[in-house]
Amino acid sequence: MLISTINHVIFRKLLLAWYQSHQRWLPWRITNDPYKIWLSEVILQQTRVVQGLPYYERFIAQYPSVTALASATEQEILRLWQGLGYYSRARNLHHCAQTIVAQYNGIFPTSYRELLTLKGIGPYTAAAIAAVSFKEVVAAVDGNVNRVLARIFGLTYDIGTGKGRKQMHQFATLLVDQIQPDIYSQAIMDFGALQCTPVSPCCTACVFNSYCIAFYTDRQKGLPIKTNTLNKRVRYFDYFVLQYKDLLYMKKRVESDIWKGMYDFYLVENKQRWAVDQMEDPLLCLVKKHRLSMVTAAKEAAHLLTHQKLLVKFHKLEVTAPFLQEAHALFNQLSLVAFNRAEVEVLPKPILIQNFLKKLDPV
Ligand code: ADE
Repeated sequence: MLISTINHVIFRKLLLAWYQSHQRWLPWRITNDPYKIWLSEVILQQTRVVQGLPYYERFIAQYPSVTALASATEQEILRLWQGLGYYSRARNLHHCAQTIVAQYNGIFPTSYRELLTLKGIGPYTAAAIAAVSFKEVVAAVDGNVNRVLARIFGLTYDIGTGKGRKQMHQFATLLVDQIQPDIYSQAIMDFGALQCTPVSPCCTACVFNSYCIAFYTDRQKGLPIKTNTLNKRVRYFDYFVLQYKDLLYMKKRVESDIWKGMYDFYLVENKQRWAVDQMEDPLLCLVKKHRLSMVTAAKEAAHLLTHQKLLVKFHKLEVTAPFLQEAHALFNQLSLVAFNRAEVEVLPKPILIQNFLKKLDPV
Protein backbone atom coordinates (compact mmCIF):
# COMPACT_ATOMS: atom_id res chain seq x y z
CA MET A 1 0.00 0.00 0.00
CA LEU A 2 1.42 3.41 -0.97
CA ILE A 3 1.40 5.80 1.96
CA SER A 4 0.29 9.36 1.33
CA THR A 5 2.61 12.13 2.49
CA ILE A 6 -0.30 14.02 3.99
CA ASN A 7 -0.52 13.89 7.76
CA HIS A 8 -3.66 14.01 9.87
CA VAL A 9 -3.23 17.63 10.88
CA ILE A 10 -2.90 18.88 7.31
CA PHE A 11 -5.80 16.67 6.22
CA ARG A 12 -8.15 18.16 8.81
CA LYS A 13 -6.97 21.71 8.16
CA LEU A 14 -7.48 21.50 4.40
CA LEU A 15 -10.81 19.72 4.77
CA LEU A 16 -12.24 22.24 7.26
CA ALA A 17 -11.01 25.17 5.14
CA TRP A 18 -12.62 23.62 2.06
CA TYR A 19 -15.88 23.19 3.99
CA GLN A 20 -15.89 26.84 5.05
CA SER A 21 -16.24 27.93 1.46
CA HIS A 22 -18.10 25.01 -0.11
CA GLN A 23 -20.58 23.72 2.46
CA ARG A 24 -24.18 23.28 1.42
CA TRP A 25 -26.95 24.99 3.26
CA LEU A 26 -29.05 22.14 4.61
CA PRO A 27 -31.85 22.43 7.17
CA TRP A 28 -30.38 19.79 9.49
CA ARG A 29 -27.18 21.82 9.71
CA ILE A 30 -28.77 24.75 11.56
CA THR A 31 -29.70 22.58 14.50
CA ASN A 32 -28.12 20.12 16.86
CA ASP A 33 -31.45 18.53 17.74
CA PRO A 34 -30.65 14.78 17.69
CA TYR A 35 -34.14 13.99 16.40
CA LYS A 36 -33.55 16.09 13.29
CA ILE A 37 -30.02 14.79 12.78
CA TRP A 38 -31.28 11.22 13.14
CA LEU A 39 -34.15 11.71 10.71
CA SER A 40 -31.91 13.36 8.11
CA GLU A 41 -29.33 10.59 8.36
CA VAL A 42 -31.90 7.81 8.02
CA ILE A 43 -33.37 9.51 4.93
CA LEU A 44 -29.92 10.16 3.47
CA GLN A 45 -29.03 6.49 3.75
CA GLN A 46 -31.79 5.93 1.24
CA THR A 47 -31.27 8.71 -1.22
CA ARG A 48 -29.20 11.72 -2.26
CA VAL A 49 -29.55 15.10 -0.59
CA VAL A 50 -31.62 16.70 -3.37
CA GLN A 51 -34.16 13.87 -3.39
CA GLY A 52 -34.11 13.50 0.40
CA LEU A 53 -34.74 17.17 1.24
CA PRO A 54 -38.49 17.24 0.47
CA TYR A 55 -38.96 14.04 2.49
CA TYR A 56 -37.11 15.58 5.43
CA GLU A 57 -39.20 18.76 5.23
CA ARG A 58 -42.45 16.78 5.08
CA PHE A 59 -41.49 14.59 8.04
CA ILE A 60 -40.46 17.57 10.17
CA ALA A 61 -43.61 19.52 9.24
CA GLN A 62 -45.83 16.59 10.17
CA TYR A 63 -43.81 15.23 13.09
CA PRO A 64 -41.74 18.04 14.62
CA SER A 65 -40.55 15.90 17.54
CA VAL A 66 -39.72 12.32 18.33
CA THR A 67 -42.88 12.21 20.48
CA ALA A 68 -45.01 13.26 17.51
CA LEU A 69 -43.37 10.61 15.33
CA ALA A 70 -43.90 7.95 17.98
CA SER A 71 -47.62 8.69 18.17
CA ALA A 72 -48.18 8.40 14.39
CA THR A 73 -49.51 5.14 12.97
CA GLU A 74 -47.17 2.86 11.04
CA GLN A 75 -49.37 3.35 7.99
CA GLU A 76 -48.98 7.15 8.11
CA ILE A 77 -45.21 6.81 8.35
CA LEU A 78 -45.02 4.32 5.51
CA ARG A 79 -47.14 6.65 3.36
CA LEU A 80 -44.80 9.57 4.01
CA TRP A 81 -41.77 7.37 3.37
CA GLN A 82 -43.26 6.11 0.11
CA GLY A 83 -40.77 6.30 -2.77
CA LEU A 84 -37.66 6.07 -0.61
CA GLY A 85 -37.66 2.26 -0.63
CA TYR A 86 -36.27 -0.13 2.00
CA TYR A 87 -39.45 0.22 4.02
CA SER A 88 -38.12 -1.68 7.03
CA ARG A 89 -36.11 1.50 7.69
CA ALA A 90 -39.36 3.45 8.04
CA ARG A 91 -40.79 0.82 10.38
CA ASN A 92 -37.59 0.85 12.43
CA LEU A 93 -37.74 4.65 12.57
CA HIS A 94 -41.20 4.40 14.09
CA HIS A 95 -40.24 1.63 16.48
CA CYS A 96 -37.15 3.52 17.60
CA ALA A 97 -39.17 6.72 18.20
CA GLN A 98 -41.55 4.72 20.39
CA THR A 99 -38.64 3.26 22.38
CA ILE A 100 -37.15 6.71 22.94
CA VAL A 101 -40.50 7.96 24.22
CA ALA A 102 -41.22 4.89 26.36
CA GLN A 103 -37.77 4.26 27.80
CA TYR A 104 -35.98 7.60 27.59
CA ASN A 105 -38.88 9.97 28.23
CA GLY A 106 -38.61 11.32 24.67
CA ILE A 107 -35.00 12.43 25.18
CA PHE A 108 -32.32 10.92 22.96
CA PRO A 109 -29.43 9.12 24.64
CA THR A 110 -26.32 11.24 24.25
CA SER A 111 -23.52 8.75 23.71
CA TYR A 112 -22.50 6.63 20.73
CA ARG A 113 -22.63 3.44 22.82
CA GLU A 114 -26.15 4.07 24.12
CA LEU A 115 -27.46 5.18 20.73
CA LEU A 116 -26.15 1.95 19.25
CA THR A 117 -28.36 -0.10 21.56
CA LEU A 118 -31.50 1.28 19.90
CA LYS A 119 -33.09 -0.93 17.26
CA GLY A 120 -32.68 0.64 13.83
CA ILE A 121 -29.68 2.77 14.81
CA GLY A 122 -26.53 1.20 13.40
CA PRO A 123 -22.88 2.27 13.82
CA TYR A 124 -23.05 4.91 11.09
CA THR A 125 -26.20 6.62 12.36
CA ALA A 126 -25.14 6.39 16.01
CA ALA A 127 -21.81 8.01 15.16
CA ALA A 128 -23.43 10.73 13.05
CA ILE A 129 -25.85 11.67 15.86
CA ALA A 130 -23.16 11.46 18.57
CA ALA A 131 -20.69 13.57 16.59
CA VAL A 132 -23.08 16.18 15.18
CA SER A 133 -25.47 16.61 18.11
CA PHE A 134 -23.21 15.83 21.07
CA LYS A 135 -19.71 16.53 19.71
CA GLU A 136 -18.47 13.07 20.58
CA VAL A 137 -15.19 12.22 18.84
CA VAL A 138 -16.43 9.29 16.75
CA ALA A 139 -16.23 8.57 13.02
CA ALA A 140 -19.42 8.28 10.96
CA VAL A 141 -18.18 6.27 8.00
CA ASP A 142 -20.49 6.13 5.01
CA GLY A 143 -19.80 5.64 1.31
CA ASN A 144 -18.57 9.23 0.96
CA VAL A 145 -16.05 8.85 3.76
CA ASN A 146 -14.79 5.48 2.49
CA ARG A 147 -14.18 6.99 -0.92
CA VAL A 148 -12.44 10.15 0.27
CA LEU A 149 -10.09 8.32 2.63
CA ALA A 150 -9.32 5.43 0.30
CA ARG A 151 -8.40 7.81 -2.50
CA ILE A 152 -6.43 10.47 -0.63
CA PHE A 153 -4.55 8.02 1.59
CA GLY A 154 -4.35 5.24 -1.01
CA LEU A 155 -6.06 2.74 1.32
CA THR A 156 -6.59 -0.67 -0.21
CA TYR A 157 -8.87 -2.13 2.46
CA ASP A 158 -11.68 -4.09 0.83
CA ILE A 159 -14.85 -2.42 2.07
CA GLY A 160 -16.88 -5.28 0.59
CA THR A 161 -15.69 -7.32 3.60
CA GLY A 162 -16.28 -6.91 7.32
CA LYS A 163 -12.54 -6.88 7.97
CA GLY A 164 -11.94 -4.09 5.43
CA ARG A 165 -14.76 -1.99 6.83
CA LYS A 166 -13.33 -2.39 10.33
CA GLN A 167 -9.88 -1.31 9.14
CA MET A 168 -11.37 1.70 7.40
CA HIS A 169 -13.34 2.59 10.51
CA GLN A 170 -10.19 2.47 12.65
CA PHE A 171 -8.36 4.66 10.19
CA ALA A 172 -11.27 7.14 10.02
CA THR A 173 -11.50 7.34 13.81
CA LEU A 174 -7.90 8.53 14.11
CA LEU A 175 -8.64 11.42 11.76
CA VAL A 176 -11.68 12.93 13.48
CA ASP A 177 -11.16 16.48 14.68
CA GLN A 178 -11.00 16.44 18.49
CA ILE A 179 -12.42 19.94 18.94
CA GLN A 180 -15.02 20.07 16.18
CA PRO A 181 -16.11 16.50 15.44
CA ASP A 182 -19.55 17.86 14.45
CA ILE A 183 -18.24 20.14 11.70
CA TYR A 184 -15.60 17.62 10.66
CA SER A 185 -18.15 14.86 10.00
CA GLN A 186 -20.38 17.14 7.91
CA ALA A 187 -17.30 18.42 6.06
CA ILE A 188 -16.02 15.01 5.01
CA MET A 189 -19.49 13.95 3.86
CA ASP A 190 -19.89 17.09 1.76
CA PHE A 191 -16.41 16.70 0.37
CA GLY A 192 -17.30 13.20 -0.82
CA ALA A 193 -20.65 14.30 -2.20
CA LEU A 194 -19.46 17.44 -4.01
CA GLN A 195 -15.75 17.13 -4.81
CA CYS A 196 -14.52 13.57 -4.50
CA THR A 197 -17.53 12.16 -6.34
CA PRO A 198 -17.82 8.47 -7.32
CA VAL A 199 -17.62 9.23 -11.04
CA SER A 200 -15.58 12.12 -12.49
CA PRO A 201 -14.17 13.65 -9.29
CA CYS A 202 -12.93 17.25 -9.74
CA CYS A 203 -9.25 16.38 -9.13
CA THR A 204 -7.70 19.29 -10.97
CA ALA A 205 -9.43 21.76 -8.66
CA CYS A 206 -9.00 19.76 -5.46
CA VAL A 207 -7.29 21.03 -2.31
CA PHE A 208 -5.77 17.58 -1.80
CA ASN A 209 -4.41 17.02 -5.30
CA SER A 210 -0.79 17.47 -4.33
CA TYR A 211 -1.18 14.72 -1.71
CA CYS A 212 -3.80 12.40 -3.14
CA ILE A 213 -2.50 8.89 -3.89
CA ALA A 214 -5.39 8.05 -6.23
CA PHE A 215 -4.74 11.22 -8.23
CA TYR A 216 -1.00 10.53 -8.45
CA THR A 217 -1.47 6.93 -9.51
CA ASP A 218 -4.61 7.50 -11.59
CA ARG A 219 -6.66 5.12 -9.48
CA GLN A 220 -9.70 7.28 -8.73
CA LYS A 221 -11.90 4.66 -10.39
CA GLY A 222 -10.31 1.74 -8.54
CA LEU A 223 -10.55 3.17 -5.02
CA PRO A 224 -12.10 2.29 -2.69
CA ILE A 225 -11.82 -1.43 -3.31
CA LYS A 226 -15.14 -3.16 -2.93
CA THR A 227 -15.43 -6.75 -4.04
CA ASN A 228 -18.97 -7.55 -4.91
CA THR A 229 -20.21 -10.35 -2.74
CA LEU A 230 -23.84 -9.68 -3.33
CA ASN A 231 -25.77 -11.94 -5.65
CA LYS A 232 -29.24 -10.62 -6.02
CA ARG A 233 -32.03 -13.14 -5.56
CA VAL A 234 -34.33 -13.15 -8.60
CA ARG A 235 -38.10 -13.40 -7.94
CA TYR A 236 -40.91 -13.71 -10.48
CA PHE A 237 -44.04 -11.78 -9.61
CA ASP A 238 -47.39 -11.78 -11.41
CA TYR A 239 -49.75 -9.10 -10.18
CA PHE A 240 -53.45 -9.45 -10.91
CA VAL A 241 -55.12 -6.07 -10.77
CA LEU A 242 -58.78 -6.75 -10.12
CA GLN A 243 -61.04 -3.85 -10.97
CA TYR A 244 -64.78 -3.46 -10.48
CA LYS A 245 -66.17 -0.06 -11.54
CA ASP A 246 -64.04 2.44 -9.61
CA LEU A 247 -62.93 -0.18 -7.09
CA LEU A 248 -59.53 -1.82 -6.98
CA TYR A 249 -58.84 -4.92 -4.92
CA MET A 250 -55.71 -4.64 -2.81
CA LYS A 251 -54.02 -6.53 -0.05
CA LYS A 252 -51.93 -5.45 2.91
CA ARG A 253 -48.60 -7.28 3.06
CA VAL A 254 -48.25 -8.81 6.47
CA GLU A 255 -45.56 -11.43 5.95
CA SER A 256 -41.96 -10.84 7.02
CA ASP A 257 -40.91 -10.19 3.49
CA ILE A 258 -40.31 -7.06 1.45
CA TRP A 259 -42.80 -4.18 1.84
CA LYS A 260 -44.35 -5.35 5.10
CA GLY A 261 -47.26 -3.09 6.02
CA MET A 262 -47.69 -1.74 2.48
CA TYR A 263 -50.44 -2.49 -0.02
CA ASP A 264 -50.18 -4.30 -3.32
CA PHE A 265 -52.45 -6.28 -5.65
CA TYR A 266 -53.18 -9.97 -5.74
CA LEU A 267 -49.80 -11.57 -6.23
CA VAL A 268 -48.76 -14.95 -7.56
CA GLU A 269 -45.08 -15.66 -7.14
CA ASN A 270 -43.26 -18.47 -8.95
CA LYS A 271 -39.72 -19.81 -8.97
CA GLN A 272 -39.52 -19.22 -12.71
CA ARG A 273 -41.52 -17.36 -15.34
CA TRP A 274 -44.78 -19.26 -15.95
CA ALA A 275 -47.58 -18.42 -18.40
CA VAL A 276 -50.76 -17.50 -16.54
CA ASP A 277 -52.63 -20.67 -17.70
CA GLN A 278 -49.86 -22.82 -16.22
CA MET A 279 -50.35 -21.35 -12.76
CA GLU A 280 -52.31 -23.41 -10.30
CA ASP A 281 -54.11 -20.85 -8.25
CA PRO A 282 -57.62 -20.81 -6.76
CA LEU A 283 -58.39 -17.25 -7.78
CA LEU A 284 -57.15 -17.75 -11.32
CA CYS A 285 -59.31 -20.90 -11.59
CA LEU A 286 -62.32 -18.77 -10.82
CA VAL A 287 -61.20 -16.14 -13.33
CA LYS A 288 -61.04 -18.87 -15.96
CA LYS A 289 -64.42 -20.27 -14.99
CA HIS A 290 -66.04 -16.85 -15.40
CA ARG A 291 -64.15 -16.28 -18.67
CA LEU A 292 -62.98 -12.88 -17.52
CA SER A 293 -60.79 -11.16 -20.04
CA MET A 294 -57.31 -10.30 -18.95
CA VAL A 295 -55.02 -7.58 -20.32
CA THR A 296 -51.36 -8.31 -19.68
CA ALA A 297 -48.80 -5.51 -19.91
CA ALA A 298 -46.50 -6.12 -22.87
CA LYS A 299 -43.35 -5.49 -20.88
CA GLU A 300 -42.06 -7.30 -17.85
CA ALA A 301 -40.83 -4.72 -15.34
CA ALA A 302 -37.50 -5.26 -13.58
CA HIS A 303 -37.46 -3.76 -10.11
CA LEU A 304 -34.22 -3.73 -8.16
CA LEU A 305 -34.08 -3.86 -4.40
CA THR A 306 -30.92 -4.00 -2.32
CA HIS A 307 -30.72 -7.79 -2.26
CA GLN A 308 -33.35 -8.83 -4.76
CA LYS A 309 -34.33 -8.39 -8.36
CA LEU A 310 -38.06 -8.57 -9.03
CA LEU A 311 -39.29 -9.44 -12.50
CA VAL A 312 -42.85 -8.28 -12.56
CA LYS A 313 -45.82 -8.73 -14.89
CA PHE A 314 -49.07 -6.86 -14.40
CA HIS A 315 -52.39 -8.34 -15.54
CA LYS A 316 -55.54 -6.23 -15.51
CA LEU A 317 -58.89 -7.91 -14.95
CA GLU A 318 -62.33 -6.31 -15.14
CA VAL A 319 -64.30 -8.46 -12.74
CA THR A 320 -68.07 -8.95 -12.86
CA ALA A 321 -70.76 -9.03 -10.18
CA PRO A 322 -71.33 -12.83 -10.51
CA PHE A 323 -67.57 -13.37 -10.18
CA LEU A 324 -67.47 -11.22 -7.05
CA GLN A 325 -70.37 -13.11 -5.59
CA GLU A 326 -68.65 -16.45 -6.05
CA ALA A 327 -65.24 -15.13 -5.03
CA HIS A 328 -66.50 -13.49 -1.83
CA ALA A 329 -65.25 -16.14 0.62
CA LEU A 330 -61.98 -16.53 -1.25
CA PHE A 331 -61.38 -12.76 -1.16
CA ASN A 332 -61.85 -12.83 2.61
CA GLN A 333 -59.45 -15.71 2.92
CA LEU A 334 -56.90 -13.88 0.78
CA SER A 335 -57.49 -10.57 2.61
CA LEU A 336 -58.32 -8.81 -0.65
CA VAL A 337 -60.19 -5.60 0.09
CA ALA A 338 -61.95 -3.18 -2.29
CA PHE A 339 -60.81 0.43 -2.23
CA ASN A 340 -62.00 3.33 -4.37
CA ARG A 341 -59.38 5.43 -6.15
CA ALA A 342 -59.32 8.15 -3.50
CA GLU A 343 -58.72 5.54 -0.79
CA VAL A 344 -56.03 3.83 -2.89
CA GLU A 345 -54.25 7.16 -3.23
CA VAL A 346 -53.60 7.46 0.51
CA LEU A 347 -52.56 3.87 1.14
CA PRO A 348 -48.81 3.25 1.58
CA LYS A 349 -47.64 1.44 -1.53
CA PRO A 350 -44.34 0.25 -2.98
CA ILE A 351 -43.16 2.59 -5.72
CA LEU A 352 -43.58 -0.19 -8.28
CA ILE A 353 -47.31 -0.26 -7.50
CA GLN A 354 -47.54 3.53 -7.37
CA ASN A 355 -45.98 3.78 -10.84
CA PHE A 356 -48.38 1.21 -12.21
CA LEU A 357 -51.34 3.13 -10.75
CA LYS A 358 -50.14 6.38 -12.31
CA LYS A 359 -50.51 4.78 -15.73
CA LEU A 360 -53.82 3.07 -14.99
CA ASP A 361 -56.74 4.66 -16.84
CA PRO A 362 -58.89 6.88 -14.65
CA VAL A 363 -62.45 5.64 -14.14
N1 ADE B 1 -24.97 12.16 3.45
C1 ADE B 1 -25.23 11.46 4.57
N2 ADE B 1 -25.34 12.28 5.62
C2 ADE B 1 -25.17 13.54 5.17
C3 ADE B 1 -25.20 14.79 5.77
N3 ADE B 1 -25.43 14.93 7.07
N4 ADE B 1 -24.98 15.86 5.00
C4 ADE B 1 -24.78 15.69 3.69
N5 ADE B 1 -24.73 14.55 3.07
C5 ADE B 1 -24.93 13.46 3.78
